[in-house]
Amino acid sequence: MSLSVIILAAGQGTRMRSGLPKVLHPLGGSPLLQHVIRTAKQLDPSSTIHVVYGHGGEQVREALEQEEVNWVLQAQQLGTGHAVDQAMPSVPDDDVLLVLYGDVPLVRAGTLARLVARAEQGSLAVLTATLDNPFGYGRMLRNVDGRLTGIVEQKDAGEDQLAIREINTGFLAAPAGRLRAWLKQLDKNNAQGEYYLTDVIAMAAADGAPVDSASADDEYEILGVNDRVQLAALERIYQRCQAEQLMRNGATLADPARLDVRGEVVTGNDCYLDINTVFEGRVTLGAGVQIGPNCCIKNATIGDDVVILANCVIEDSTIGKQSRIGPFARIRPQTELAAQVHVGNFVEIKKTRIATGSKVNHLSYIGDTHMGSGVNVGAGTITCNYDGAYKHLTEIGDNVFIGSDTQLVAPVRVGDGATIGAGSTITHDVPSDELTLSRSKQETRSGWKRPVKKTD
Ligand code: UD1
Ligand code: CA
Repeated sequence: MSLSVIILAAGQGTRMRSGLPKVLHPLGGSPLLQHVIRTAKQLDPSSTIHVVYGHGGEQVREALEQEEVNWVLQAQQLGTGHAVDQAMPSVPDDDVLLVLYGDVPLVRAGTLARLVARAEQGSLAVLTATLDNPFGYGRMLRNVDGRLTGIVEQKDAGEDQLAIREINTGFLAAPAGRLRAWLKQLDKNNAQGEYYLTDVIAMAAADGAPVDSASADDEYEILGVNDRVQLAALERIYQRCQAEQLMRNGATLADPARLDVRGEVVTGNDCYLDINTVFEGRVTLGAGVQIGPNCCIKNATIGDDVVILANCVIEDSTIGKQSRIGPFARIRPQTELAAQVHVGNFVEIKKTRIATGSKVNHLSYIGDTHMGSGVNVGAGTITCNYDGAYKHLTEIGDNVFIGSDTQLVAPVRVGDGATIGAGSTITHDVPSDELTLSRSKQETRSGWKRPVKKTD
């Protein structure tokens, strides 16, 4: 049986007080809606996913343009039943239909699979939860046998019904053909003057169709985002889950509460993460990687046994095994470091390849450079890679020794085994295996006196 998924995402999200549509607010670095789409795909990669959008519609479509979904416009928000109905023309009768919410991002595929399994057996299946404080939610109505007979919304409920603690999470699954027939019978005769999707429960029960419920594995799965306080609460839950995943995969975290994953991190065994690391995009850590406090690592591949000391920023780069970075190093995009490279404090590296065992340990800028192996770059060395209009390449051979405070004015080439004297400004290619230096001669003026301020 094929699966069709409808994700409701047309609501305004007024309480966010934002120019950004609610479903685009990020959780763990991705829009809320994207989490729901991913979960739906995880459930069944071949499912057709319809997203019902309305408020800020074009912005939502643009932000998620790479997602393979069918966008369905609900021009006026006339209720959840009306929203689902907008997508029904593209849902085949013999599919199972699953309804999700774009602002409830943490529901898990396993939970949804139970709902879908019940719908495959022919039931209308609703995900419910029992809450200490059910305020605001639709309440599940059951007859004396405990069978579901309907849902009553908070605003329509009588006093007895308000005491019911079993609530409607909003997620449901049903055979599509049957749901279509019930949707046709919806009306707006209720406190909010909306077409309530929830009314299909009573219709199904009246038709004698099987109505079933399931519950989520974890309480947080059903939590929705209405304001930024709830968003922050979900973010912490999400980050806790990411941290637990990393620990289960063999990483030690100094404090699971002080780590943020805004993307995907893969770790080898025995990684150690000190506090306040932020990972973004896709990051891969080899085995035995150690990361000091306060690092930001984005779209990077870090080899086995690399040590990254405190306060480093690494982006779009590859760090070879057993390298040592920081403290206070910045590795900018398109940098590729081979094994055992050392990049020390207050060093910036950009769009540069450095071969095995080379060291840039103190206060340097190395950009647009190809550097060989076994090179030692002295403190304060700068590649002058930019002439104001173009960027130029600096090429440094193997086993080069560059004295401190050297400027390499690119384009320039330094041959294998060359030595450059400290304080040199290198504007021409440097031959292999020789000492090259450019320096004005040192002089001493004996007897010279410092000027002294006159006093009256
Ligand atoms: C709904 C349920 C309620 C349930 C609660 C769980 C109904 C009538 N009520 O109530 O039983 O306990 O969710 O959170 O279904 N949406 C649209 N188009 C619309 C209206 C809503 O796309 O015309 C979307 C919203 O963006 C949101 C979702 O549907 O993602 C739920 O809408 P919302 O207005 O929050 O429903 P509730 O009144 O909270
Ligand atoms: Ca809601």
